[in-house]
Amino acid sequence: MDIQQYKNAYKKSIEDPQTFWQEQALQNLHWFTTFSEVKRGGNFKELLNNNSETTAEWFVGGELNISYNCIDRHLSTRHSQVAIIWEGDELNDIRTFTYQQVHDEVCRLANALRAQGVSKGDRVCIYLPMIPEAAFSMLACARIGAIHSVVFAGFSPQALSQRIQDAEAKCVITSDGGRRGGKSLPIKASVDEALMHCNSVKRVFVVQHTKQKIEWNARDVWYHQITAHEPPNAELEIQQAEDPLFILYTSGSTGKPKGVLHTTAGYLLNASLTHRILLDHREGDIYWCTADIGWITGHSYVVYGPLANGGTTLMYEGVPTHPNASRWWEMIDRHRVTTFYTAPTAIRALMAQGEHYLKNSHRKSLRLLGTVGEPINPEAWRWYHENVGKKRCAIVDTWWQTETGAIMISPHPQNQTLLHFETAKPGAAQQPFFGIEPVLLNTDGKEIHGAGEGLLAIKNTWPSQLRTLYKDHERCLKTYFAPYPGYYFTGDGARRDAEGDYWITGRVDDVLNISGHRLGTAELESALVLHPAVAEAAVVGIPHDIKGQGICAYVCLMEGQTFTDQLRQELIQWVAKQVGPIAKPDQLHCAKALPKTRSGKIMRRILRVIAEGRINELGDTSTLADPSVVESLIEGMKK
Ligand code: WT7
Repeated sequence: MDIQQYKNAYKKSIEDPQTFWQEQALQNLHWFTTFSEVKRGGNFKELLNNNSETTAEWFVGGELNISYNCIDRHLSTRHSQVAIIWEGDELNDIRTFTYQQVHDEVCRLANALRAQGVSKGDRVCIYLPMIPEAAFSMLACARIGAIHSVVFAGFSPQALSQRIQDAEAKCVITSDGGRRGGKSLPIKASVDEALMHCNSVKRVFVVQHTKQKIEWNARDVWYHQITAHEPPNAELEIQQAEDPLFILYTSGSTGKPKGVLHTTAGYLLNASLTHRILLDHREGDIYWCTADIGWITGHSYVVYGPLANGGTTLMYEGVPTHPNASRWWEMIDRHRVTTFYTAPTAIRALMAQGEHYLKNSHRKSLRLLGTVGEPINPEAWRWYHENVGKKRCAIVDTWWQTETGAIMISPHPQNQTLLHFETAKPGAAQQPFFGIEPVLLNTDGKEIHGAGEGLLAIKNTWPSQLRTLYKDHERCLKTYFAPYPGYYFTGDGARRDAEGDYWITGRVDDVLNISGHRLGTAELESALVLHPAVAEAAVVGIPHDIKGQGICAYVCLMEGQTFTDQLRQELIQWVAKQVGPIAKPDQLHCAKALPKTRSGKIMRRILRVIAEGRINELGDTSTLADPSVVESLIEGMKK
């Protein structure tokens, strides 16, 4: 689709959404039964006043199966085309799977899950490293109508346990271990620890991957054994368009993680359409999205989008710097990758390692580059464009969220201005995708017109929007739809320039973006106060060269405790253990007290200014209950 066609299609999607989406859904998905209604509900103004348990319904009455759409329908033409290329952490550890092989693997697992009593609507937790079985597991769940909840294997046993309990998962699919940067990870041991508090889990499927020694329990079964005797065909569960496909937990600004729920048809339609149009999928492409399956990017753009389009998707188990920082670039040559989609933080990390790591690869196969997860800074953009793409490839900066299911704002990949640093607007996600009407609001909820800056919100329903937060619809409405009635509130700020292009400026709530991963300050604070030495804690984000944002924590100690360097290290490790290594604070300071308003609300603005050493920008501190706190905080930073 060229730019003009794209613009026309966008216009149609806004002016006549019914016809537009009806055509798209019929053209792009395979239906067992055609839908009778394109959309029902989804009026954001009415959401707060009706008793519905969902934020929208799309393609009502339609019946389909995602596993069929991602695999079976391609078999007649693509049975021997490679669907998944996998490269392990160790060099020369490569496995490929054709569409036929993926079909057979998925069917065997689907049968095994059924044999273990998993049926439609049951929740299955997937806690796996980046191995092909992760994709098979998702697709096997989709085949039998089970709802998967993938938990990033870097999350701690506590975090895993909390997510399994919330979803009441019946079964966990995991592996003995994982490999990252030459080290092995104790994946199964984390599951064992997590399951000490989870009564719902009846079976644990264990993929034999590293062959490391593990403990064995009565509920455990080997994945390879239990699938070995199953036939390579499995009946498809007929799914309603609005049947749940998956739950994916993400951090919010308060309390426990939110179980974002996506359903079947609308989700797959947007994941596949955006992959085809914005990531410019073409016949013969070798496509590589570096995201882990534990995040929404891994769901939509490693598995569902590319497979729905009959593409070839690459999965990599390890880190970009193992055995050295040439790894990704060599992989691009080795597999002749045409489309590469990654996060700005990874680009900055590799940029910091130096250009010489690019010398032993030519990357001639690349046609398009993409980024996601956080705004891309101009230096990183330039390096990506000039050094990785040799000025030949456009870069699409794609803005979206776990809740949106698929890309919402992105440049068009064939936009010629993207080929030059001077014209490309590095840092601008630019234009909305089909059906998306972004608006900028001021804090009173009034729309800002023309160029300006404000809170980013979306005016109208789109097929892949979240339907609810699992078992907590009230929280869903409260978080996304109540703050500015009539709109979906993204939690981000944005600027719109004179040409109508959007520039995302970052979160406006208490959510941090650490290396493109979302972490709630409240989650980190509650981890800290669980430590016996800590009475109170506050966490703020600080600028970080590689990670985009780093974590700065302030703690007030219990009576009788003294702050030592050892305690600081202990607390830093503690957070990493409670939440996961990505949550490890970069700085941790002891405070006599936290800056609070008279109503007891922590003034994070003050903590941020102090953490960044911008003391002369403290501004108005008169609303503080105890202004002397500021002095002691500044004192504390010196220690
Ligand atoms: C938050 C969503 C969606 C995939 C990865 C993260 C930030 C995402 C961009 C971008 C600026 C971005 C936003 C958003 N974000 N993409 N291209 N430019 N910021 O998913 O964990 O749900 O986080 O990531 O702040 O709200 P997520």
